[in-house]
Amino acid sequence: MTDLPLVLPAIADGEDKTSPFVNCIRKNYRHLRKWAKRTLTDSFRIYDRELHHYPLVIDFYAGRFCVHYFSPTRDQEEPAPQLVEDVEKGLFMLFQATPSDIFWRIRAKNKQTRQYEKVGESQEFFSVFEYGIKFRINLKDYLDTGLFLDHREARHLVAEACVGKRLLNLFAYTCSFSVQAAAEGAVFTKSVDMSNTYTAWGRENFILNGMSSEKNQIVRADCLKFLVEEVRVKEFYDVIVIDPPTISRSKKMDQLFDIQVDYIALITLSLQLLHPNGVLFFSTNSRRFVFDTTLFPKCEISDLSHKIVPPDFKSAKTQLWKLIKK
Ligand SMILES: C[S@@+](CC[C@H](N)C(=O)[O-])C[C@H]1O[C@@H](n2cnc3c(N)ncnc32)[C@H](O)[C@@H]1O
Repeated sequence: MTDLPLVLPAIADGEDKTSPFVNCIRKNYRHLRKWAKRTLTDSFRIYDRELHHYPLVIDFYAGRFCVHYFSPTRDQEEPAPQLVEDVEKGLFMLFQATPSDIFWRIRAKNKQTRQYEKVGESQEFFSVFEYGIKFRINLKDYLDTGLFLDHREARHLVAEACVGKRLLNLFAYTCSFSVQAAAEGAVFTKSVDMSNTYTAWGRENFILNGMSSEKNQIVRADCLKFLVEEVRVKEFYDVIVIDPPTISRSKKMDQLFDIQVDYIALITLSLQLLHPNGVLFFSTNSRRFVFDTTLFPKCEISDLSHKIVPPDFKSAKTQLWKLIKK
């Protein structure tokens, strides 16, 4: 047993014949709660579009709920009042959640929202646990919450490879790969991201876990430019993780970033920073991405995607390759 203050309320078994939706959440949560207690995790997906009439994904964040609504048509951007009522009633019935514990995200087909856009100013943060490590979450202000739940097993797998090692984390977002690695025993981590907001958030994640900023450095930079400079100054690492966005445009960058084009330069430069037998992990959520392994003949390459399937996702799409430098 653990002393960690995990938020994993027990919910009663039972069947409400009138609501397959509530029954589905109850079943999923009760099943996952056992795994969550074992892995010291209180942030996970409890509903993943199982029922046609409920085109939703619901993520549980330590007693709060992020509800993603997938609009079935191009025009209907808001969930119907009946759907909102069913969600509120269901989450109240199961968890005694009030509407202030429920945060909606609308995923409409015709909405051209940028991936990392700001949507609020509340600055309301709270923390959750993942594999015994704390992460700061904000369900109000950004399209993403601070922690990509679908990457959980990838973080765990990379962290296990970092014991006693130096890690470079590219496109670090809130530094979750680095924080897990530091917790697992990485001796040094460097996290690189272009965003001021996310590098500051990453710093808070290290502080939250009592991790030193000397051993866990954060650099705000364009990753490609950073790599060129790092090769020039001859900084070396044992493990590098690259988890880029599919496409990224920013005023801070000279050019559009496109994973399918830029992965070759990213990996080629990164390999120059690895010690012999060093390990590079490359990950993406892009279903269209094609990895041409013949481009890196000096590496032993394996596809580890099947090892990082999260128990709480019905359709996992994260791909992960491991390249060992020979
Ligand atoms: C998909 S998220 C990365 C997720 C992260 N690896 C994780 O597991 O939490 C993309 C991140 O890349 C950053 N980013 C996008 N283009 C960048 C670039 N050219 N250089 C550095 N960071 C970039 C964004 O600021 C954002 O934080």
